[in-house]
Amino acid sequence: MSHIRPVQHVIQSHRQSEGGGFIVRRPLPTVGLEQLDPFLLIDELGPIDYAPGQAVGAPDHPHRGFETVSYILEGETEHADSAGHRGSLGAGDVQWMTAGAGIVHAEMPSKRMQAQGGRVHGFQIWVNLPARLKMTAPRYQDVPSARIPQATSPDGKAHVRVIAGEALGVSALIDTHTPITYQDWQLQPDGEATVHIPDGQTALVYVFAGSLRVGTAGALVQDGQLAILGAGDTVQLRGGDTGGRALLLAGQPHNEPMFRYGPFVMNTQQEIVQAFRDYQTGKMGQIDAN
Ligand code: CO
Repeated sequence: MSHIRPVQHVIQSHRQSEGGGFIVRRPLPTVGLEQLDPFLLIDELGPIDYAPGQAVGAPDHPHRGFETVSYILEGETEHADSAGHRGSLGAGDVQWMTAGAGIVHAEMPSKRMQAQGGRVHGFQIWVNLPARLKMTAPRYQDVPSARIPQATSPDGKAHVRVIAGEALGVSALIDTHTPITYQDWQLQPDGEATVHIPDGQTALVYVFAGSLRVGTAGALVQDGQLAILGAGDTVQLRGGDTGGRALLLAGQPHNEPMFRYGPFVMNTQQEIVQAFRDYQTGKMGQIDAN
């Protein structure tokens, strides 16, 4: 018999300025909560309408010890890094970057968006790596929108894009180092979804449009709120009065010490010091000018 996970706690996101000055809606981390193991950061970028010449991004910066996952809903960003990857991400595209031992990258609005302005909306989520994988080789998985597996419920009221994990009989294309679920759910009023998430994993629902009812008690989770789910093996979602859209995130916790400083997330303070040293001495490389 399935055991439906209840809503244990609801976090209201706050607004914060990041990178070159773009505004994000951030439920994690927040005051008194450093992580929801293995998730370190959940940022919703925008939606914001930039005037010509106003769009900003995150110029060259390093990462080590975790993964950054970018999911674009609207707008275009350009990515370049010290491993020689270059590409642009548009609406619906996903980039799953394992920083591992270290990488320097830049995430900027496309030249067209910088010149003409336009709307930017998307997510960046940080997923921690366990100690045994922190120094793994960097890895990129770029998946264009058309290749993201999707599914719709038989009644047509629930739709999902499966970035990681499984839902409605569909499996993700992206490979994750540890068990992770990352899904974009759109639910019409009374549209329903159930997703198997093994007991023991952290399970989160971040609503970014409308509202959802979560669990058998039908706890209401509204736009901008992150619900932390309790024990169980099944997540149950239902569209609120006007329907809703949410990310379902889940993952196996590492249960390890976590030291975080700026762009580095390691297990000890000594490893953070080492990361700064390695970055400053060029061991994480640099982005080629061409
Ligand atoms: Co970055």
